[in-house]
Amino acid sequence: MAGTGVFQEIVDGDVFQYYADGEWKKSSSGKSVSIINPATRKIQYKVQACTQAEVNKVFETAKAAQKLWAKVPLWKRAEALHKAAALLKEHKGPIAECLVKEVAKPAKDSVSEVVRSGDLISYTAEGGVRILSEGKFLVSDSFPGNDRNKLCLASKIPLGVVLAIPPFNYPVNLAVSKIAAALIAGNAVVLKPPTQGAVAGLHMIQCFHLAGFPKGLLSCVTGKGSEIGDFLTMHPGVNCISFTGGDTGIAISKKAGMVPLQMELGGKDACIVLEDADLDLAAANIVKGGFSYSGQRCTAVKVVLAMESIADDLVAKVNAKVDKLTVGSPEEDCDITAVVSESSANFIEGLARDAKEKGATFCQEYKREGNLIWPLLVDHVRPDMRLAWEEPFGPVLPVIRISSVEEGIHHCNANNFALQGCIFTRDINKAIMISDAMETGTVQINSAPARGPDHFPFQGLRDSGIGSQGITNSINMMTKVKSTVINLPSASYTMG
Ligand code: G3P
Repeated sequence: MAGTGVFQEIVDGDVFQYYADGEWKKSSSGKSVSIINPATRKIQYKVQACTQAEVNKVFETAKAAQKLWAKVPLWKRAEALHKAAALLKEHKGPIAECLVKEVAKPAKDSVSEVVRSGDLISYTAEGGVRILSEGKFLVSDSFPGNDRNKLCLASKIPLGVVLAIPPFNYPVNLAVSKIAAALIAGNAVVLKPPTQGAVAGLHMIQCFHLAGFPKGLLSCVTGKGSEIGDFLTMHPGVNCISFTGGDTGIAISKKAGMVPLQMELGGKDACIVLEDADLDLAAANIVKGGFSYSGQRCTAVKVVLAMESIADDLVAKVNAKVDKLTVGSPEEDCDITAVVSESSANFIEGLARDAKEKGATFCQEYKREGNLIWPLLVDHVRPDMRLAWEEPFGPVLPVIRISSVEEGIHHCNANNFALQGCIFTRDINKAIMISDAMETGTVQINSAPARGPDHFPFQGLRDSGIGSQGITNSINMMTKVKSTVINLPSASYTMG
């Protein structure tokens, strides 16, 4: 159970503490933030409402701790990360339970997220010791007019203090993807977990605490984004921001100072299905991609663009699979569970109703109980409907019938979102050409969009993000280049 066993010290009474300077603490605000269980709509947990003064203190200790950590050999940093990874896996049960209660993630998927996070930390540790042990050596005489008397040693150095802000849909996995890369690169980290998912995040942090990282190097502050959000992202102690979430990220990127940004925002991933596609394969991937975690994934399939001639068959195959999806509680591993909040459920419902009012076809009866929305395929969607463009982040999937590939590519490129997309066809040449024409971060051929495996590059264009993720890209993104140039006297020895 949450807050028990090795996690006992992270909770005080019924309020989970925040983590600073290597200790679990109560906020001097005396206030807490409640976390509502999306499925029961009841208060599940409470966390501290940290103050700006506590945030200042956290950045102060992080700065000092980072200076010492940057001197710790790479292999020792990796060793500590491997310990944290092992602890995370060892204690996956209680952490996964938090995910079930806080974000209604099906139980099995919750355990997978924690195990995946352990693997990601270990892979980052191993990758980091190799990537960061290499630098560049350049000599001056390759540039016109220069003698061979300048030797440049270029290496990667840490940025300083990284502010990590993960999303509710992966409060553990998309926290460690930032933390592990930042730490192996020699940075300190201040984590601001999402409110929905904060307790899972605090349990994850306890695993790093038990792994013995230096005091102050890693901190975790909780509170309402509306209260400490801007204070955090505009704090002078921040040397880099790594954020995953919705369009809040666009506001942050506008407010953030002169710091590197790793922003992974929303998506409206298009799935283009051609006449020669394997429709059973396409249908299976559309359902897996469109309805996993009730569609609450930035890489979920969010619009199907089907060639008119095969659309009826495809829709029939998809509906047959949608009708088999189980709907209910995350504890029972149902395929469709409650979406994260009432406001999210209302937004999703609004998009579905807009499409219906404008003439789209609901392939299933629209059904909702609280935050639980039954899976819905919406056919005959047209570009004048909001559902054609906006990101429901829920189990509602539009089908747009297209009469040409170009029409599909145009729809994909006309969206502000550009995270991923996918194409189903048996013609690999055509697939490559279409992939080339789709202006999006990643195009999957004959499979649904996905971020993983976690060593693959992962990036969004336009409103879907800034920078790139994936283990290697994140490590490099959390460093900057430092050059040391040795200037030899111009008169060099002649070889006798
Ligand atoms: O933010 C990325 C996340 O929403 C999607 O990740 O692993 O489900 O494709 P994944």
